[in-house]
Amino acid sequence: MARVVVTRLLPAGGLDPLAGHEVVQHSDGIVGLDLADAEAIVCLLTDRIDAAVLAAAPRLRVVGNVAVGYDNVDVAAATERRVAVCNTPGVLDETTADLAFLLVLAASRLASQAERDLRAGRWSGWGIGQYLGHDVHGATLGVVGFGRIGQAVARRAAGFGMRVLHHARHDTGEPGYVPDVDVLVAEADVVTLHVPLTDETRHLVDARRLALMKPTGVLVNTARGPVVDEEALAAALEAGTVFAAGLDVYEREPEVHPRLLAAPRTVLLPHIGSASVATRTRMARVAAEGVRAVLAGERPPNVVNPEAL
Ligand code: NAP
Ligand code: GLV
Repeated sequence: MARVVVTRLLPAGGLDPLAGHEVVQHSDGIVGLDLADAEAIVCLLTDRIDAAVLAAAPRLRVVGNVAVGYDNVDVAAATERRVAVCNTPGVLDETTADLAFLLVLAASRLASQAERDLRAGRWSGWGIGQYLGHDVHGATLGVVGFGRIGQAVARRAAGFGMRVLHHARHDTGEPGYVPDVDVLVAEADVVTLHVPLTDETRHLVDARRLALMKPTGVLVNTARGPVVDEEALAAALEAGTVFAAGLDVYEREPEVHPRLLAAPRTVLLPHIGSASVATRTRMARVAAEGVRAVLAGERPPNVVNPEAL
C-alpha cells in the first residue's frame, strides 16, 4: 500500500483504480502540501510540479497528471529522479475538438458579441448590416498540430464542407499537409492551434505570423495560452488586421490580458476544452490508472518519460 497525494477533488469514481492504496485527498492544489511520504501524486494542470516540489517528495515514484498537456510538470527533473509522469491522451480528443469547433463557429459568426449586445439591451431589431461574420462552410481551415485533437477537429470541418490544411513538424503523408506554417497561416480563413506547449511552440503565433493572416482571418486557440502572443493578438484585433479570435486558454491563467478582454470580436472561454462530465471522469481514471500501474511495477499505458521507469 503506497501513499498517494491527490491535490484536488476529482470526479466521482475517478480514483477507483487506486483502491487499496492510502489516498490522501486535498482540495486546494499542490502548494504547501506535505509530500515527505508521498510515493505518488495525482495532480491537475494548474499544479506546477517543478524541481522544488520533486525535491520535497523524496519517495515519489509517479505523477499522474489529469490532463493530456504536461507543460506544468518539469519532466526533465522528474526523469532525473526516476519519477514517471503519466498523462491522459486520447480520452478527451472528441470533447476538446467539439469545443474548438464551437469556437470556430462562434468567432467566425460573432456570436459572443451579438449575445452580449442582446443581453445588455443594445439590440434594436433585425438589421441587414448587423453582426456580419464570415461563413464557416466552404472556408479553409488551417490546423496547426495534427495529432489526436487536431485530426478530430479536421473531421468536424469536413462535415461543414471546409477545405482542411494542416501543419506539423513531420510530414503526415495526409492530403492537405503544409510543411511551412507561414504558408498555412496565410492561406487559411480559420487557423486552429493544437500543438503542445514547448520551447518551440511558445509564441508560435506572434506579431509576424498574425500579420500573415488574412484580415478576414479567425484564430482559435484551445492548445495552451503561451502558444499565442496575446499582446500581439489584441493589437491585431484592435487594428482589424485579424477579424476574430476564439480562445479557451491564456498566457497567465486565470488572468486574462486586459487588452484581450477589451478587444473586439473575441469569444473567450475559461479553459473548458475537456469539460464534460464523462470526459473529466475518464481523465481522472486514466491518470489514476497510470499511477496504479507504476506503483504495481507495471508499464503504464500513458507515460511521457518511459526512461524514468
Ligand atoms: P498530440 O496528439 O501529441 O498532437 C500534437 C501535434 O502537434 C502533433 O501533430 C505534433 O506533430 C504537433 N507538434 C508538436 N510540436 C510542434 C511544433 N513545434 N510545430 C508544429 N507542430 C508541432 O496532442 P493532442 O492530444 O492533440 O493535444 C494537443 C494539446 O492540446 C495538448 O498538449 C494540450 O496542451 C492541449 N489541450 C487543451 C485542452 C483544453 O482544455 N483547451 C484539452 C486537451 C488538450 P509533430 O511531432 O510531427 O510536430
Ligand atoms: C487540458 O488542457 C489538457 O491538457 O488536458
